[in-house]
Amino acid sequence: MVRIVRASASELEAAVQALRDGEPVAFPTETVYGLGANAQNPAAVRRLFELKGRPANHPVIVHLDSPRYLHRWVREVPEVAEKLAERFWPGPLTLVLPRSSTVHDVVTGGQDTIAVRVPAHPMAQQLLTAFGGGIAAPSANRYGRISPTRAEHVRDEFGDAVRVILDGGECQIGLESTIVAFDGGRARLLRPGAVTLAQLQEALGEVLVTAGGETPRVPGSTSSHYAPGTPMQIVPQDEIDARASALSEGGQRIAVLAQRLPLSTYPYVTWINAGRRAEAYGHDLYANLRTLDKAGCALILVQDVPEDPRWDVIRDRLRRGAALGVAGDDREAAAVLGVLP
Ligand code: TXA
Ligand code: MG
Repeated sequence: MVRIVRASASELEAAVQALRDGEPVAFPTETVYGLGANAQNPAAVRRLFELKGRPANHPVIVHLDSPRYLHRWVREVPEVAEKLAERFWPGPLTLVLPRSSTVHDVVTGGQDTIAVRVPAHPMAQQLLTAFGGGIAAPSANRYGRISPTRAEHVRDEFGDAVRVILDGGECQIGLESTIVAFDGGRARLLRPGAVTLAQLQEALGEVLVTAGGETPRVPGSTSSHYAPGTPMQIVPQDEIDARASALSEGGQRIAVLAQRLPLSTYPYVTWINAGRRAEAYGHDLYANLRTLDKAGCALILVQDVPEDPRWDVIRDRLRRGAALGVAGDDREAAAVLGVLP
């Protein structure tokens, strides 16, 4: 059961004060937790990058409580974008639109576009409404790591460096928002998410999909950051038991993320059965990966997920995570591609 809680008046007041003072505030959305700053305060947004260890020229999403002040951030809203906003906001959808000239470069990474989202989580809504402005917020994790889906994950990531964390319980969806950009009036899916390609197509007809789901590369970005995590490998569905048992017999501690119980007991294997329901699997995915990452194993084996549109987002995140796990040098590429920064 997902517990949706609201912030108390004093929690809200502290969070709004922090934003006004240029301090970061972590808050829940229905996708993942965000690390927020006043989007109109460039120094405060810069501080988010420092905290995350993320290169300064990566763009961030600006969160709004409703589309009513969209024109303050965006130069024009193509008709197709309007349709999506009407249909899916508030919700797990981010729209990349032409930026207004008053938006600070630090928010957009110097690009001519800005990513905006109206989240549905009641606590995010409370915060945005009480603050009254746009909140720039990347996912509340250090650069190159998994997005947080619980307040305790944010604490694990940042300790005392982030003083104000609004605890809204577990994120309902648990995977980052769908990102859509617009090419001359046509919608382009940049990052798959809870709003599915099929839903976008149903709303608009045609939707372009960039091969590999790439978001535009950020010019001149370099990475000196490397966060060690347990390498992750995707294993064909019917080979998971054989692989886990063979590796653990060789004396290695192995972690497994599967959709069922193991067929027998294997020494040195930490096995999580995340079930066969895509929604529940997605909701728990990042928490499960965090648990397995802490289990002191040499490798995380992930049982591949079904070839079914309901599993598309999950497959996307697993592929990106596995790409990261195989080679640290791919981190920058994968980060720019979307999910893990
Ligand atoms: O669900 C989410 O989207 C969460 C919650 C907190 O809203 N946020 C999130 O932010 O995942 P972040 O910073 O971890 O990922 C945002 C992605 C990045 O891949 C970034 O490159 C892309 O959005 N993005 C931001 N502005 C963009 C722009 N102007 N053009 C293209 N991509 C952009
Ligand atoms: Mg992120």
